[in-house]
Amino acid sequence: MTSTPTIADVAAAADRIRPYVRRTPILSTEVDGRPVVFKLEHLQRTGSFKLRGATNALLSHPLPERVVTASGGNHGLAVATAAASVGVPVTVHTPDFVPAQKAERMAAAGAKLVRHPEMAEVFAAALEEGKEPGVRYVHPYDDPDVVAGQGTVTAEIVADAPEVDSIIVAVGGGGLASGVALAADGRHVVAAEPEGCCCFNAAVRAGEPVDAPVDSIAASGLGANRIGTIAFGLLTEAKAQSVLVSEEQIVAARDRLWEEFRLAVEPAAAVAFAALLSGEVPGERPCVILCGANTEWSPS
Ligand SMILES: Cc1ncc(COP(=O)(O)O)c(C=O)c1O
Repeated sequence: MTSTPTIADVAAAADRIRPYVRRTPILSTEVDGRPVVFKLEHLQRTGSFKLRGATNALLSHPLPERVVTASGGNHGLAVATAAASVGVPVTVHTPDFVPAQKAERMAAAGAKLVRHPEMAEVFAAALEEGKEPGVRYVHPYDDPDVVAGQGTVTAEIVADAPEVDSIIVAVGGGGLASGVALAADGRHVVAAEPEGCCCFNAAVRAGEPVDAPVDSIAASGLGANRIGTIAFGLLTEAKAQSVLVSEEQIVAARDRLWEEFRLAVEPAAAVAFAALLSGEVPGERPCVILCGANTEWSPS
């Protein structure tokens, strides 16, 4: 059984990770005349919120001899960076098809990369290595220390913009969304997912976590095929609203963030804004978490 963290764990995580992560700013603005708050977490070190959970996972226990994880992207970069900050060697199992830029950044952060043809093998190899003595396997989302770390994003929103009454968050395996449910202090929680990969929505319909297909432009961030057990419990308890968005809505939301606000985010982060634009989100002052910026960038 995976234990469920508490709001006290989020507060402890905030103290623990403070020296290693940025306190990201908020931007209070209007969208089509409606007051909206953006949490600019895409400005986090490594380009995503993942650094918070990874750092908290490493600092919550005596430091391991080695860290291992499975990732094709932001989580791997976050674990590599967190491990480098505390001086622990790290292995990231990754798929052969990992984008070259992401592989280079993980290697530059000091990670040893082990490549495998399929994602199933990536996870199997990381889990196997994680059983070795002195090795800490850091799960991308279904780990109480990771969830508590991700909860610090919402703790900052609540502290910096207490007037926010609903919080919109993109869901992959649900680590970030679990943190919202934990730290939102009664605010309305909106779990936004692409129609093509929506494991939280599938779990809500089935009444329990189930496998769901993964096919979306946002799959590199949101491509978990099953919602985490911690996330399913916390999001259910928080009565989170599930909102699905199409590929067209995601691309339009990403483009609008750039055109109107000069905010450059990756598709996974545009999913939450797409949910806001869908008109399905209630609230006088909603907050959209912009959770990542690791997108290809080609300067002209
Ligand atoms: C940018 C971005 N947003 C959202 C997510 C989904 O996070 P979670 O698995 O905690 O739901 C990820 C996961 O890698 C991500 O990289």
